[in-house]
Amino acid sequence: MDVSDLDLDAARAAITAAATVDELAELRKRFVGKGSIAARARESIKTVEPAERPVLGKAVTEYTKAVESLLADAETALGPAPPSEPPLDLTLGGHGRQRGHLNLVTQCQRELEDVFVSLGYVVAEGPEVEDDWHNFEALNFPPGHPARAMQDTLYVDLGEPEQVLLRTHTSPVQIRLMESQEPPIFAVIPGRTYRNETVDARHSAVFHQIEGLAVDRGLTFGDLAGTLEAFTSAYFGKQLRSRLLPSFFPFTEPSAEFAITCVFCDGSGCRVCSQTGWIELGGCGMVDPNVFLAVGIDPEEYTGFAFGFGLERMPMLRYGVEPIKTFFDNDDRFLSRY
Ligand code: PHE
Repeated sequence: MDVSDLDLDAARAAITAAATVDELAELRKRFVGKGSIAARARESIKTVEPAERPVLGKAVTEYTKAVESLLADAETALGPAPPSEPPLDLTLGGHGRQRGHLNLVTQCQRELEDVFVSLGYVVAEGPEVEDDWHNFEALNFPPGHPARAMQDTLYVDLGEPEQVLLRTHTSPVQIRLMESQEPPIFAVIPGRTYRNETVDARHSAVFHQIEGLAVDRGLTFGDLAGTLEAFTSAYFGKQLRSRLLPSFFPFTEPSAEFAITCVFCDGSGCRVCSQTGWIELGGCGMVDPNVFLAVGIDPEEYTGFAFGFGLERMPMLRYGVEPIKTFFDNDDRFLSRY
């Protein structure tokens, strides 16, 4: 064998002429497989003149490479056409595991807590099953006072009749805080509340409130108004104004209903705010001196303000959720959206 036996042109002609993949397999045997031209040439390297060896070795290697590459191209050309659709992936399993997440009301509660903490407040909580003293009496609702009828109470069948109840608001936690610590107090109180309420688009027998209580020397109604604007603006992410209209709560004097400029129309009037430009949020006022006396704080030395409102109102406004029961239906189509 010598270099002239490695005839690449002959190999190319044969490969080009091949019509099937099987013919190409035959040609591979003939040119580069066992006992092929290339194999025999490689065998003969040791028998040629030492000076010839590198020349023949290089020629065999180049020939083999070139033939392999011609064969590969021809095989691709003759091989089965690649499927036009991607093949079906029939792998089983791997559905993943859906992680749960917090309900929108809890998310909102935590966001508001963060806002208040940034204003220097602490987060406080109290029991949902309350006694008459904390829910009513210490808050200046004397027994039989008509103001008790403002809140349709669900009583618990425990102890003296009508002494144990499901708290109708988060305000009893104001009393618990003031009973247990000296001013200054700056606290935000989120939690679940209950009323014997007929369910409609905006009312539910079980709902959440968030309450604020500030007690210190020299606090004024102006501080209250400013605080309302500060936390609502922080939650809705734009500057809002507060409006305070005279109202009545036994535990605040003066008392007000507070509203914020409509977050949708900025006060110019739209469907959401019934063309008024304002959105009612909740109640507020200056802590009534009688409440301070009930918990042993000197009303001559300290003043304070408080406010409270339905927590669900915030995400209802921010995301347009209605009716309120949507939060508690446990419908996954709603839950998984937020
Ligand atoms: N507790 C009142 C309610 O549930 C709201 C309120 C809180 C009013 C604090 C004044 C001060 O309606």
